[in-house]
Amino acid sequence: MKDSNFHKSDLITPAYVYDQRRIVSVLGRLAELKDKTGCLPLYSIKSANMAGLLDVIKPYVSGFSCSSLFEIQLAKEVLNKNQTIHITTPGYRPDEWDNIIELCDFVTLNSIGQWQAAAEKINARSSCGIRINPELSFVNDDRYDPCRSDSKLGMTFAQLADANTAKQLDWQSIEGIHIHNNCESMHFDELKQSMDHVMAGLSVYKPKLKWVNLGGGYLFKPETDLGPLEDTIKRLQDQFSVDVYLEPGKAVTGNAGYLLATVIDLIVSKSKTIAVLDTTINHLPEVFEYQYRPQVMQASANGRHQYRLVGCSCLSGDLFGDYCFDNIIDVGSRIVFENTGAYMQVKANMFNGINLPATYLLDEENKFKLLKQYDYESFRRRL
Ligand SMILES: Cc1ncc(COP(=O)(O)O)c(C=O)c1O
Repeated sequence: MKDSNFHKSDLITPAYVYDQRRIVSVLGRLAELKDKTGCLPLYSIKSANMAGLLDVIKPYVSGFSCSSLFEIQLAKEVLNKNQTIHITTPGYRPDEWDNIIELCDFVTLNSIGQWQAAAEKINARSSCGIRINPELSFVNDDRYDPCRSDSKLGMTFAQLADANTAKQLDWQSIEGIHIHNNCESMHFDELKQSMDHVMAGLSVYKPKLKWVNLGGGYLFKPETDLGPLEDTIKRLQDQFSVDVYLEPGKAVTGNAGYLLATVIDLIVSKSKTIAVLDTTINHLPEVFEYQYRPQVMQASANGRHQYRLVGCSCLSGDLFGDYCFDNIIDVGSRIVFENTGAYMQVKANMFNGINLPATYLLDEENKFKLLKQYDYESFRRRL
């Protein structure tokens, strides 16, 4: 995507922009994988869930994977009848079971307690699986490691063994296994290692599985070697005769998303020139959460002009960082943050009453299509 795309004066800012060609290029890779191996790709709608965006993704996937009743309801609205809805969460609420079971085709339980509460009901209508915590960590940051110690995510082998001894689990009615134990990895050998470990550990129970869900947590970049993923899928199909699902989120939307902002003030301080943007880190919450420095399209490592890019809220820490540019920045200049398509729009908030960014789809003809715009009513309705 070129910088010049973002200079059209009629574009609303701030705005999230999703590049349809980038999304389709990843989905095309998933479709090839599906043709080659017979796996069933889902899209994990937690990473970005704007309705028009889901319509772009829908033709390429077998269904959506969800984390809550609201996401399920959204998936039901968007998907065709022959596409499937999947859920796993540590947060099932007792008062939501009936609705979840009615709307979902595949329900994965996260704990023994959930199993005891709902497995029978689920099996009467949908397919019931369990999430396994393989206790293999590949992520350095505990906040994003599903296998951190004392994790709430999935059942460990020790928990399964105890439940088995106490006859709390019926292995004959567990139809599926779900694992998700990575984050932004490009190394599918980690998935292979995890799945081998899980299937070896489960062999004592002789489960009669119908499906395995390999979760998300991997990026399908051009340089990512899909060989170990293909091997894992084939091995699961050959040895256990199961359907194999994948549910990437960030791989589909991360690299395809941008945040477009406009400079609304320049402040000259003791040692910096500060460019105040019409956006805030609350539109890119992972910048603050992760202390991560977003890439800026117009910046250049050796540029002669340095600016501190800051958000427009009252929080002094609402800043994106110091960046160098070849050209001078002025009030009205456009700034584009790259690689912001996942876990940003879905987590954004209206702190200080600052409006949320609009959302555009940049379609395959390079035309901006406005998907969403917020206003005072959107702010007022949440109060
Ligand atoms: C169970 C599950 N599946 C899929 C995903 C999607 O992961 P990613 O966006 O890293 O591909 C997540 C993300 O947290 C998850 O928890």
